[in-house]
Amino acid sequence: MKKFLAILMAALMMISMFAVAGAEDVKTYKVGVAIYQYTDNFMTLYRNEIEAYFKTLETDTVKYELTFADGKNDMAEQTNQIRNFITQGMNVIILNLVQTSSADAVIDEIVEAGIPLVLINREPLAYDADGNTIDEAYEGILNNPTVCYVGADARQSGTFQGKMVADLPNHGDINGDGVISYIMIEGDPENIDAQYRTEFSVKALTDAGYEVKCLDDQVGNWDQTKGQELCANALTSFGYDIEVVFCNNDAMALGAATAITTAGRVVGEDIYLLGVDALEEAVQLVREGEMTGTVLNDHIGQSHAAVDVAVKLLNGEAIENYYWVDYVMVNQEYVNAQ
Ligand code: BGC
Repeated sequence: MKKFLAILMAALMMISMFAVAGAEDVKTYKVGVAIYQYTDNFMTLYRNEIEAYFKTLETDTVKYELTFADGKNDMAEQTNQIRNFITQGMNVIILNLVQTSSADAVIDEIVEAGIPLVLINREPLAYDADGNTIDEAYEGILNNPTVCYVGADARQSGTFQGKMVADLPNHGDINGDGVISYIMIEGDPENIDAQYRTEFSVKALTDAGYEVKCLDDQVGNWDQTKGQELCANALTSFGYDIEVVFCNNDAMALGAATAITTAGRVVGEDIYLLGVDALEEAVQLVREGEMTGTVLNDHIGQSHAAVDVAVKLLNGEAIENYYWVDYVMVNQEYVNAQ
């Protein structure tokens, strides 16, 4: 019995020694993820995919401890959250800025704290209207080997929206008066995605030689309820003069779709409706003909690229300053091919 107990004790000691050694071998990285606003449909998909993808990269010896923060669309609140991340000693920060105009200040604080930074979704203004780079605006990114931006070029999404209208048999000119009359429902005007989509959707039509007329241009702040309200008001004011409704994102387009149906209008017959993001609900509407088209804003590609570069930074590897993920046109043809 004594001998048995001695063997048992020895075995237990060995197991506990291994357990301690095992625990020491596990490296846990602390990752801070700050999102501009949790109520944003698109950023919710993006955020969930960041979490899911980090999980898939974990091994027996490498773990990622994620802390998420909701900026509630308030830059002061987000600045506090970033300072907390710094105090908590995050190993890397993934940041979806509330205000891109605060980019330089925020980048400086994070870089000074020696923490690598991956900016996502809201690109600090980097080009002027002619597409030339504005150096000061993104020196903060270019001059820092541990800072980068991961996103999609919003000019492409706007161009695809316009192209989907230009490609229609009547090119969006339903009443045949030689002019495409449209309304524009914009996202947050400070956001480069909103600016470029507004500009390039129309530019694609004028570049293709079509005449356009803007009946109304309002700010819906990316929000579904606001999109519905603005579209309903415009339909009341301009009625059948409206041939095309451009929305800077799908959330607002979903709202506009409701307003269009409520007004007794029929997409594809007496009006066209375009969004961006390819939210599941919007793709379903395209399938059913209740939306003319949307543009895939690839949150999976973008979140994976952001996480991959964050991991590179954690491993001390060299990175690029910019990573771009393509948009994809989602019209009838696309959904039929799915
Ligand atoms: C998306 C919008 C979203 C915004 C948030 C854009 O790229 O298209 O749906 O509200 O990002 O910054």
